Amino acid sequence: MVGIVPTMGFLHEGHLSLVDAAHIHADVVVVTIFVNPIQFGPNEDLDKYPRDFDHDRKLCEEHGVDAIFAPGVEDMYFDNRSTFVKEDTLSAGLCGARRPVHFQGVTTVVTKLFNAVLPDVAVFGQKDAQQALVLKRMVRDLNFPIKMIIAPIVREADGLALSSRNKYLSGSERENALAISRSLFKIKSEIESGAVKDYKEVGKSISDAITAAEGKVDYVEVLDSEMLTDAGEKTTELLIAVAAYFGTTRLIDNVLVTPGSSK
Ligand code: PAJ
Repeated sequence: MVGIVPTMGFLHEGHLSLVDAAHIHADVVVVTIFVNPIQFGPNEDLDKYPRDFDHDRKLCEEHGVDAIFAPGVEDMYFDNRSTFVKEDTLSAGLCGARRPVHFQGVTTVVTKLFNAVLPDVAVFGQKDAQQALVLKRMVRDLNFPIKMIIAPIVREADGLALSSRNKYLSGSERENALAISRSLFKIKSEIESGAVKDYKEVGKSISDAITAAEGKVDYVEVLDSEMLTDAGEKTTELLIAVAAYFGTTRLIDNVLVTPGSSK
């Protein structure tokens, strides 16, 4: 069995947890490292996206990775390419609504990485919850013979979700950014205990906490965790998803919440 862990490099413990999960399901684990230009919008951080291949290679060796596939842009894309893979429903909201080309870039590159590596198993992170759902839908709809594994979010001890983009944060921005995970954990426990049953105020209370910490909210949404439709009384599992800027750095985070589960 061959397992694939697609990444854009600058690896951290979050990526490495995916490698560890891949080892459970596959005998051979391939990490791909490719900063995919077509998933970045014109005003996004493609040029300054952090890279450190030698360090990535060392971490991969330490985690028993069998092969790294790190193609160049010219290996992946023809100048006159005209074929793309596009998921239409799950990619419409959240990050997809703000980053118009993003998910088409992700589904296209992941298809190409699957075709290059021919994996039996693929591991993605819940950190990018919408990406994980979009890619699972793509695999289902296009009959890829690949088992999809979604691994939990790895966080710093203080709650900040690990991300390659955390490197951009100043000391004070990093401290302020804890408002995201703190407010998500608080509301998660309030919904699970049954203290909060009406989701209308949830978005506002998280937004207020982020704004009070000098963050700029991009979105806060309370959705059905599978369909990404608005959550209602009957929803069995919620995805509460946040995107916010601290300084110029855009961070995303989320929690899965089962209402009333700790009553
Ligand atoms: P990248 O941001 O490098 O993330 C690679 C994988 O690591 C994704 O599946 C992501 O969800 C996971 N990941 C990142 N931070 C994590 C954390 N704190 N805990 C658990 N998993 C985490 O996502 C991409 O690259 C790209 O869009 C890609 C799928 C490679 C396509 O280009």
